[in-house]
Amino acid sequence: MDVKLLDLTAQYLPIRNEIRRAIDEVCDSQALILGPYVERFEKKLAEYCQTRAAIGVSSGTDALLCSLMAMEVGPGDEVICPSFTFFATAGCIARLRATPVFVDINPATFNIDPEKIEAKITPRTKALLPVHLFGQCADMTRINQIAAAHNLKVLEDAAQAVGAKHKGHVACSLGFAGCLSFYPTKNLGAFGDAGAICTNDEAFAERCRLLRVHGSGHQYHHQYIGGMFRLAAIQAAVLEVKLKYLNDWHEARRRNAALYDKLLAGSKVITPRIENDNWSIYNQYVVRVPNRDHVRALLADQGIGAAVYYPIPLHRQECFAYLNVPEGALPETERACREVLALPIYPELEEAQVRRVAEVLLEAVK
Ligand SMILES: Cc1ncc(COP(=O)(O)O)c(C=O)c1O
Repeated sequence: MDVKLLDLTAQYLPIRNEIRRAIDEVCDSQALILGPYVERFEKKLAEYCQTRAAIGVSSGTDALLCSLMAMEVGPGDEVICPSFTFFATAGCIARLRATPVFVDINPATFNIDPEKIEAKITPRTKALLPVHLFGQCADMTRINQIAAAHNLKVLEDAAQAVGAKHKGHVACSLGFAGCLSFYPTKNLGAFGDAGAICTNDEAFAERCRLLRVHGSGHQYHHQYIGGMFRLAAIQAAVLEVKLKYLNDWHEARRRNAALYDKLLAGSKVITPRIENDNWSIYNQYVVRVPNRDHVRALLADQGIGAAVYYPIPLHRQECFAYLNVPEGALPETERACREVLALPIYPELEEAQVRRVAEVLLEAVK
């Protein structure tokens, strides 16, 4: 039995007619960019994220870039973030000529270790940018305490964590603002690139709305130098349909995760730890295994899809060599890069498939 890492068709087929009707409606209206479909989705997304405002943008990357621009992050500023994350987190900081300052992770959760943040705060620190990796919130209680003590804003990179909760509060409502990605592999995936910024701060929201259209509120009047970060109406229409099913999909992923936890318990496979304060949406189910690359190859031989997020930490990327963060500087980040393996976790997986993945994995680590 082959098991793919992700099967988007399995999600699409049961809602195919509904999605196609929604796309048709946009086509018939020819209101293609921003406009009523985007506004309707933004309203529902803000409700879902328990924030006052949601601003639809062109991708998760652009959500980060637009937010950092709205926070006036610029040359000379430092922004604290993890190195064990997707490139966009630090890439957007660097694109604004600010400096990403990397902090190591808590090895149990893969999220930024709050106890290591304060040592990296300087007079140039402008903001904290924790990532809710793999669908589990970072320790926002501790992070917010540190931010308050140093008068810093917290921007949540919630690209992988739409709907995840910390102490009952939803990702994006935990900090000053949060950024979402609707890249197709996310729990809420568009039919192309899309993203959003969610926040309770109305002034910040308004600034983001302007920045997403070249800083312009009225045609050909530019208050700020912004970008082109608009969300396409077809994406909003698709996302609005999918939002209705999102909680069911989260639950199905959580069921699959619980079964993996049970089947892999007591083996050499280290299963992901979710803190008591957290409710994970399991965008990824990431284990640690010895001889990871060999294990991955054995899984592939048996038709089981698995992936490595992330093989190279950001501080060791060629483009960040100028930051001079040496190998060994973030030991838990570097160890995670050697050991992690993401298993199939998508909602439509059947129990027999989860059992098959676990069986092959247990054999591979023997
Ligand atoms: C942690 C994190 N941040 C940012 C992004 C960027 O999102 P996008 O791919 O929609 O630009 C991603 C997307 O994969 C991500 O995983």
